[in-house]
Amino acid sequence: MEISLRNQVAIVTGASSGIGTGIAKSLASSGATVIVNHSSERSLNDAKTIVREIIDAGGKGITYQCDVSKEDQVVKMFQDVVAEFGTVDILINNAGIQKDAKFTEMTLDQWNAVIGVNLTGQFLCAREAIKEFLRRGIDPSRSVACGKIIHVSSVHEVIPWAGHANYAASKGAIRMLMQTLAQEYGADKIRVNSICPGAIQTPINTNAWNTQEAMNSLLALIPYNRIGQPQDIGNLAVFLASDASDYITGASIFIDGGMTTFESFSTGG
Ligand code: BGC
Repeated sequence: MEISLRNQVAIVTGASSGIGTGIAKSLASSGATVIVNHSSERSLNDAKTIVREIIDAGGKGITYQCDVSKEDQVVKMFQDVVAEFGTVDILINNAGIQKDAKFTEMTLDQWNAVIGVNLTGQFLCAREAIKEFLRRGIDPSRSVACGKIIHVSSVHEVIPWAGHANYAASKGAIRMLMQTLAQEYGADKIRVNSICPGAIQTPINTNAWNTQEAMNSLLALIPYNRIGQPQDIGNLAVFLASDASDYITGASIFIDGGMTTFESFSTGG
């Protein structure tokens, strides 16, 4: 099976690190022009490095700064990308943060920050993407679908997570956002799906893998016995963005080395 995203334009939010970077590189190596979105001036250098790597590998991409939790910035990002590249074909709704706290100590700021990026950010980007998909209509020289949205959720859309109520709540909500959009825009040939990663080796969860002890207790949760890599998620994103997955919409696809099989039950229960 050959997969090509040639002629297609993809916005990857939160692409200056972690899973977003893995997805941006995978999409670019499959032929898409990739907008490497980053949230602030602080992440500009990382975003530039990624674009340079994409270009050195023969791909196409640009950096774009936008805080996805801010409506005016998201609207402008889509306007600018359409002005420069003609349209958007693929949205990877990836930007996400954690602000962990015991629930009784969780501040409203911690709650709002996580919901703002992880959920409101996905709402705002999906809304602008769908408006653009509908404006352009289906163009068979690009894809048989009118557009593709891939939400980056988490195993924590189904696994409760003590000490991370804001994060788990945002991921649970993404599932309903994703499925509602898939239902609402299926007839328009817009496909909407979620990728639900388990533990992937990125800066967001450094504490879970940077010592041997932490890694051992992490691996106890993963039947496949290895931590995931951004490239694992990149491969799935390419498939979900391509016409090879044209009959998949409204799905949460777990990519977690078996974490959602609840490994502790292999000996208990
Ligand atoms: C979180 C990581 C965590 C993983 C598995 C992800 O959604 O961002 O911090 O390691 O879930 O628990």
